[in-house]
Amino acid sequence: MQDDIRDILIDRYAIQARVYKMAQQIAADYGQREFLLMPLLTGSIIFVADLVRHLPVLMRIDVMAVSSYPGKATTNQGTRILYPTEFDVAGKHVLVIDDILDSGRTLNSVRNLLAEQNAASVKTCVLLKKRLPTAPATEADYLGFEIADEFVVGYGLDYNGYYRNLPDIAILHKRVFAPDA
Ligand code: IMP
Ligand code: MG
Repeated sequence: MQDDIRDILIDRYAIQARVYKMAQQIAADYGQREFLLMPLLTGSIIFVADLVRHLPVLMRIDVMAVSSYPGKATTNQGTRILYPTEFDVAGKHVLVIDDILDSGRTLNSVRNLLAEQNAASVKTCVLLKKRLPTAPATEADYLGFEIADEFVVGYGLDYNGYYRNLPDIAILHKRVFAPDA
């Protein structure tokens, strides 16, 4: 696995420092208002696990599973909600957590769906956002780092299901994407 890494873009220490700051900002904004944290599987699992441990406030966590980058796809193939089949968000303040905002289509779909389900408010929090030539479909309310338009893995982010367990955010060698080239 280590041989596949070309560069470390953001190391584990920088991630931890930033996640702590983001949690402080979220705690300050919500104050005593109870909220429902909704992490999007699978990419946000490591991020959300670190984030919630810096959030000493009353909250519930309900996961949502969406698929936009099936298998080896490196661009959004259309967002599908896989779980849950029914939502219980009416009247709740929902904070959606995702790993990365790329085209913004995933978060946009999720945001619209939760609004349709009568959530009291919907905010979004992502660790990473890609700097793209075109504007994303939506912006995040809380953002960790802006990065260049490159495919990244680690700290929950995958390529073809692998590399989520890397502690740092990394860029893979080109040969990993085209092993026969
Ligand atoms: P969007 O819908 O194009 O904004 O894509 C967001 C989703 O795509 C995220 O939930 C990620 O799981 C996935 N994704 C986007 N860019 C990357 C990347 O560089 N590495 C790994 N996953 C990515
Ligand atoms: Mg994902």
